[in-house]
Amino acid sequence: MARRTSTDLRKHLFHIATLTDLSEEITSHRPFHRTVKATLYMVLGTLSVPRGAIFRFDREELAFVPIAIKGFDASKDNHLPVTRAQMRHLIGRNRYVALGSPPPGLKGFVQGVRDRLAHMQAQYFIPLVTRKELIGAIVLGPKLSRRSYNQEDFDLLPVMSNSIAVAIHNHQMFLSLQEKMREIKQLYENMREIYYDTVKAFAVAIDTKDAFTQNHSLRVAKYAVAIAREMHFSKDDLEGIYIAGLLHDIGKIVIDKVILNKEQTLSKDEKSEIHLHPLIGSEIIRNIKFPWRNIADIIRHHHERGDGHGYPDGLNDADLSLAVKIISFVDAFDAMTTDRPYRRRMSLEKTIDEICAYLNLQFDKRVTNVFFKILKKEITGELPDPQILPNLEVPFDAKIITQLLDALAYELST
Ligand SMILES: [Fe+2]
Repeated sequence: MARRTSTDLRKHLFHIATLTDLSEEITSHRPFHRTVKATLYMVLGTLSVPRGAIFRFDREELAFVPIAIKGFDASKDNHLPVTRAQMRHLIGRNRYVALGSPPPGLKGFVQGVRDRLAHMQAQYFIPLVTRKELIGAIVLGPKLSRRSYNQEDFDLLPVMSNSIAVAIHNHQMFLSLQEKMREIKQLYENMREIYYDTVKAFAVAIDTKDAFTQNHSLRVAKYAVAIAREMHFSKDDLEGIYIAGLLHDIGKIVIDKVILNKEQTLSKDEKSEIHLHPLIGSEIIRNIKFPWRNIADIIRHHHERGDGHGYPDGLNDADLSLAVKIISFVDAFDAMTTDRPYRRRMSLEKTIDEICAYLNLQFDKRVTNVFFKILKKEITGELPDPQILPNLEVPFDAKIITQLLDALAYELST
């Protein structure tokens, strides 16, 4: 009697150790297929069964699909199809099915399983169910000893199968979460594309209204991105400044076309009306939920100046963000190098002189320095994908401009 008690205790300890190992294996960070395989080997080892398999249940295919196999032919079609009625029986049963004596309602299913898995002499089919959901199954072949499964085996099986069901269920949830995240990311990308296209359409509408500023917004956006990239803006902020460049003059949409295209000097009232466009533009944009930051503020302040003489708020240098300074700079540069209703475009040399004359008053020194560096690199061919030169309508002498930019480089960097 004492010997029997001691043997029972050893068996119980062995089973507890097995279950602990199993739960450690299942919660390990190894790739899922390796975890399932190790789990199957552990289950088979505990029961002294040389052949078996773990299946996951595929809801779309309505079939059990093997995910770990031991001791039988993996190249055969081992998918086990199931009808919806059989599925309900398996969920309701939630315990092992002896393939030699199938319960009512599962005879057809068992027939199919037995035929498909004849090469492993399958004896038991254990459905894996968690929260009334069919997750998969374990199929077990005969014991190595050829003896029947005993009560201890049947006591151990539900504990092991529950752990495996939870592990497979968690993995499937993880996969579906990953899929959802991929879908959300794709939707977000599509939304960004739509934003881009819409904003570009707006930019074309703005520039079309003003006969003299064809593609002005597009050039401002490109120049601004060239500077921002050189200043190591993040990907999101580069996109943001591009959008702000395209939309900076959106307020002009409500300004009288006659005033915008007037060749004579503007009256005080006409000037005041034009000066409303940053304010109107920022109000138009303010309620749009852009994925980028500060677009409305950049639009509102793109005519502010470091010396406080800009509009609409008369801000000072310290109040202006770097993005505002960039857009303000490239807006003025493009205005100077293209024809306007009231004057012809300036030469590049004169434009550079003009910028230097208003350094720190209208133009930020750091932004100017970076822009001139890019311009020089584009002229000397150092940049493979020039963004400024292809848009410049003013002819210039490359040698003279390069010398001028070299002479300014030291002054601007100090
Ligand atoms: Fe403007």
